[in-house]
Amino acid sequence: MSNPPSYLVNSAFTFLPFGPAIYLNKMDDKYIVEIEKAIDKVMDEGGVDSRQAGDRLAGRLDDQYEILDLVSDACKGHIFQHVNQYYFDQRGTAINQEHDGLLGLDSLWFNVQRYMEFNPWHLHTGIVSFVIYIKNDLSKAETINNKFDKRRGTELAGHLQLKYGEANQFNYTNYDLWPEKGQIIMFPSWLMHTVFPHYEKDKERVSVAGNIIQMEPPTNPIF
Ligand SMILES: [Fe+2]
Repeated sequence: MSNPPSYLVNSAFTFLPFGPAIYLNKMDDKYIVEIEKAIDKVMDEGGVDSRQAGDRLAGRLDDQYEILDLVSDACKGHIFQHVNQYYFDQRGTAINQEHDGLLGLDSLWFNVQRYMEFNPWHLHTGIVSFVIYIKNDLSKAETINNKFDKRRGTELAGHLQLKYGEANQFNYTNYDLWPEKGQIIMFPSWLMHTVFPHYEKDKERVSVAGNIIQMEPPTNPIF
């Protein structure tokens, strides 16, 4: 089965298209600008070898670089506000070190997705993973207007797809997102996901991703 019906995905920021909860919200514009500047700095330098993240990431993308050290504590704090909201939405309590351990952001990398590049099915390490969309030259209408989607009536090109569970009748296993600049999406790190290629030769989309990890274990775990 494909996406769940709309009434299952209409609640505020956190929703359950299948078992695990997904979070979708907007980043504050000023942090989108800040991250954009950090990415431009790295790209203007021609991509610095020491920042190369392609050797540890699944993406079949030319440019993927680490930028955690180029982002302010305020920006990291803003990302953590979203993480906290995600926790609160699911269980009615904020992040709590006793129950959740000491959580931290251990890496932040950007991905430039150009013509035909894609991210095969993969999962991440950590507790919670997120993707923030920084730049998007693509229009959805143009991107899905390709021979593969047209002949099957699908809308997959350029989409992020999350997948959970067994494909069967009345069991909704997929959540597809057409990414928009400024969005932040969050999901459990173990959740399988992929990004389909797009076929626009001169257009690119830039995202930033990271993992929230447990730096110290909880003293009184609740999960
Ligand atoms: Fe990923």
